[in-house]
Order: sequence, then C-alpha cells, then structure tokens
Amino acid sequence: MRPVVRLKTPAVIVNCKVYTEVEGSGALNLALVCDRVAEETGIGIAVCPPMVELGRVTDRVSLPVFSQNVDPRKPGSGTGYTTPTAVKAAGAYGTLINHSEHKQPAADVGTCVSMCRDLDLYTCVCADTVDVAKELAAFKPRMIAVEPPELIGGDISVTTANPKIVQDTVEAVESVDSDVMVLCGAGVKTGEDVKAAVDLGAHGVLLASGVVKAKDPENVLRDLIKHL
Ligand code: G3P
Repeated sequence: MRPVVRLKTPAVIVNCKVYTEVEGSGALNLALVCDRVAEETGIGIAVCPPMVELGRVTDRVSLPVFSQNVDPRKPGSGTGYTTPTAVKAAGAYGTLINHSEHKQPAADVGTCVSMCRDLDLYTCVCADTVDVAKELAAFKPRMIAVEPPELIGGDISVTTANPKIVQDTVEAVESVDSDVMVLCGAGVKTGEDVKAAVDLGAHGVLLASGVVKAKDPENVLRDLIKHL
C-alpha cells in the first residue's frame, strides 16, 4: 500500500458506481489516471471504485480512495455486508454513505458516520434534498453531497438545472455545523460546471458518468479541474 495524500478542497470525487467500464482491471486503470492527474496538478481528486475492487486500487495509488458504501455493522456474522473496519483494513481513506442509489435510514447513517469517525475514515454523506442534507449534517460527517436524483446520469449539471439547491444546501448545512463541507453532484461534466459549483459555495463535486463513461477519461478529468 502506498502513502495516501490528504483530500484537499475544492475536491473532485469520482464515483465509479458499477459501470461496465470499471469492472475488473478497468477500475484500477481509471484510478491510476486519477492518481496521475492529482499528483501532477496538486488538485484534490478522490476515487470510489466498485466495492470488489477496493483493495486492488488502494494497493496501487496515492490519492484518497473511498468505499461506495458502508453498513452499520461490526465484524462477525453478517454475510454480504460491508463493515467500516473492513473498509479501513482494505486501505480506504473514506466512504460514501447513503448515496441515492444505496439509501439507508437516517439512524443508520448516523451510526455509520460515528463508526467511521472512530476509525478515522473520512465520510461523505449523500442527500437528495436540502431538508435531508440539513437533517444528516447533524451527524457531523466531513462532507454532505447534495444530488437531485432526477439529474443523476444526465447531461445537465445540477449547477445549471438547479443552482438554488446547491446554495440552499450550503446555507442549511452551515446553519447546523460550519465544519461540514458541501459537495454537489448530478450531471457534472465540464470545468465550467465545477467552477459554477465552487462559485455557488460548494467545496467541490461528486460525479460519475462524465469521467467513468468517457472515451478519454484523462482528458475529461483535466477539463473538469482546469478552473481550480
Ligand atoms: O455519485 C455521483 C452521482 O450520483 C452523479 O452521477 O453520472 O450524474 O455524474 P453523474
């Protein structure tokens, strides 16, 4: 395992989801691209490989690697669950929690955040509305990522389609705990989208298809960070 760098902000977190492009060695190849660009530019880039590729990726990169999920479970009998301790042992820097494609009850989100905090795992909790973001900020994750589900996977960035949700989430989360940073995501594809996110008060973006499904992910990634 290589020494891992701290996640800087503004941050670009690339969620690989479970797209075909990142099955098998595809996840490591994409992570190596992200790692190279992060090292060359000094920009805060993190990657969330598919769960089954987590260890293979952490073994080979220095950039922060996130799990796509954790369950609020301790080690022991729990077939198919992902424990925070296992994610830590696999070399992850942090984890997403409650992505809109993998939701958990609010109480479980709180338990996951607290378990991760005890393990020094960085937490990025997803929320699909301003109200949910405000509710989940009370658990004091490191980041809240607001993503309107209807814009996920599309070509119109949340910063264009619904800039108000970004501004309102920044304000709402700040009113609960000013140490919790806010990301936004859904449809983010270009450097202009990322700049708009930062101009709206976000500490960065959480994105997927723009990079993962691109013909030339490195080119897209360099474009995404060009204004940072
Ligand atoms: O986790 C990132 C996400 O849900 C946004 O996906 O494809 O719209 O960038 P995408």
